[in-house]
Amino acid sequence: MHSPFQFQLPLPPEDVHGRDELLAALTEQVTDRRITALLGPRRFGKTSVLRRLADDLTEISTVWLDVYGVQSLADIATRLDEALVRAPAAFRTEANHVAARVQVTLGVVRAEFARPRRSQPDPSARLGQLLEVFLDAAARRPALLVIDEFSDIGRVRGAAETLRTAFQHRASDFGLVVAGSHVSAMRQMFAGREQPFYGQAELLEIGPLDAVTVAAIVADGFAATGRDPGNVASRVHHVALGHPQRTMLLADAAWTHAADGPADEQWGSALAEVRARLDGSMRTVHDTLTVSERRVLRLLAHDEPLFGTVSDQLGLTSGAAQSAVKQLVDHGHVTTGTPRTVTDPLLADWFRLTLPL
Ligand SMILES: Nc1ncnc2c1ncn2[C@@H]1O[C@H](COP(=O)(O)OP(=O)(O)OP(=O)(O)O)[C@@H](O)[C@H]1O
Ligand SMILES: [Mg+2]
Repeated sequence: MHSPFQFQLPLPPEDVHGRDELLAALTEQVTDRRITALLGPRRFGKTSVLRRLADDLTEISTVWLDVYGVQSLADIATRLDEALVRAPAAFRTEANHVAARVQVTLGVVRAEFARPRRSQPDPSARLGQLLEVFLDAAARRPALLVIDEFSDIGRVRGAAETLRTAFQHRASDFGLVVAGSHVSAMRQMFAGREQPFYGQAELLEIGPLDAVTVAAIVADGFAATGRDPGNVASRVHHVALGHPQRTMLLADAAWTHAADGPADEQWGSALAEVRARLDGSMRTVHDTLTVSERRVLRLLAHDEPLFGTVSDQLGLTSGAAQSAVKQLVDHGHVTTGTPRTVTDPLLADWFRLTLPL
């Protein structure tokens, strides 16, 4: 039997729970043609909720541009070409008409950039043409452009400017939602005065799942597969603290172990198995951190202040703590809000078990 708790890939639209308010806000933003940036830590369900949005907006064609890891304008042009080819049929037909007029062939951009250098197109010009294709088609067919992992655009020289220039006078023609997990980098892209998208977008945050949603997810998943969840939902929530992927990972382990006996009795072994499975990746995270960053995470995991007796004992000066917190926030290990917390509850759990205070 398959587990009802998917914890690796973005969820199918019908499995997105607990995001009604966010979906309503996103729908309003898109309908009003206001540029929206969806911010949230890794694995908080940004892609899932946007897929659900696309599915809900039946009158609008969604073009889904994932720019994860792009390194050049050629990469972005290639991804946009592929996104246009994957668009719903009605939009794609429109896009093909426009493309023919500006003498671009959709679906071949990757091959064009694989040619010997002399016969490659100019990346900036090709990207500009593909943006034109999208914009002209969007002027004829209601469209939503989703740019997932948007902060990676910021690392490609000239990319944000190219997009801004293309969208500048056309923003009211289509919906635009961008999403990203490098929260500080994303904020910087829209709030930094020197940035091309300065002041352009409304920022929406995706938060943890609430206890009621977690209870419903666990109850539904167990019921659908004929297993009794007992009191497992609150145990999951106590550890995962609403972190969506961690919730599903723990629910999956509880469900798997419930095959061997009552879910509540099996919870201890389910949690132990998850901890054992993650130990290697937690060590890898730990090993990539500076000593000050490790000390800060240890203190936060134990709910201790970053300044005072305990931090003195660890040899953490206030200057070192401040710059470590900044780094940890930038890398998504620590949340941006106050009070600061460790983003991943299972990383905090690992610190508490491995490095007690
Ligand atoms: N609404 C939800 N209800 C239950 N679980 C969810 C929900 N949203 C996300 N998840 C869980 O989180 C996992 C990651 O979701 P998703 O890939 O959408 O997040 P993301 O924020 O786009 O992550 P990344 O930063 O890695 O791109 C899913 O596989 C699922 O287990
Ligand atoms: Mg994602």
